[in-house]
Amino acid sequence: MLTPEQEGERRRNLLLTLVMIGLLMTPAWFSPTWLRVPWMVAGLVFGLPAAWVSWRHTPWLPTPSEDLPRIVRLLDVRPGQRFCDLGAGEGRMVLHVAAVTGADATGIELSPFHWLVGRLRLLLQGNERTHLVLGDFHRADLSGYDALYLWGTSAIVATPDFLALVHRLRPGARLVCHHHPIPGLEPDVVDVDGRRPIRVYVMPPSPVVTDPLHPEEDG
Ligand SMILES: C[S@@+](CC[C@H](N)C(=O)[O-])C[C@H]1O[C@@H](n2cnc3c(N)ncnc32)[C@H](O)[C@@H]1O
Repeated sequence: MLTPEQEGERRRNLLLTLVMIGLLMTPAWFSPTWLRVPWMVAGLVFGLPAAWVSWRHTPWLPTPSEDLPRIVRLLDVRPGQRFCDLGAGEGRMVLHVAAVTGADATGIELSPFHWLVGRLRLLLQGNERTHLVLGDFHRADLSGYDALYLWGTSAIVATPDFLALVHRLRPGARLVCHHHPIPGLEPDVVDVDGRRPIRVYVMPPSPVVTDPLHPEEDG
């Protein structure tokens, strides 16, 4: 059950994705017919799943470039270790983390359109340490990763599926969450050195500390 705030966030996210799809489709109207039809078909084939992912899960919004250095610092991942971007979009975090840390970087992406664009980017700019998988990160085996990154929504981090995923991560793994806190869990680090806070949860996560005199202040 979503709160009214989360419902509003979901509607805004869907609208944002529809606007992006609209922008991608616009050139089709000005193209010759032989190009217009396949362009529109491709737009529907890839655009509708992207809109669905956006509605049910998280929309595609790339991590702002100015946040990349502090995310890399918070991930604290070293050469030879394994990093995973949960919802990798078009692969920018995978490419960046692999390039600056020397880690083995994998992204998991549910939207076929973003996955395809990401695969092309990795073909051109990636190397043997960069990987992009099409699928739902809730169903992936994440037990081998040393550091993980998520830019989700407040609704995603509150689902039982996501909390179960967190509890399956291996001890010592670092989960770096952009913007939204995981309800009920105490972050080990809260970095407020930018426009949005970024939190680090070191596994196993600790429950939020309860003040018995002021329980209403928790979460
Ligand atoms: C806010 S974007 C972040 C993209 C990328 N991580 C970055 O930082 O630039 C979230 C991405 O997660 C994807 N996504 C949402 N739910 C997902 C799921 N359950 N499994 C895999 N990908 C998912 C969306 O399609 C979207 O591309």
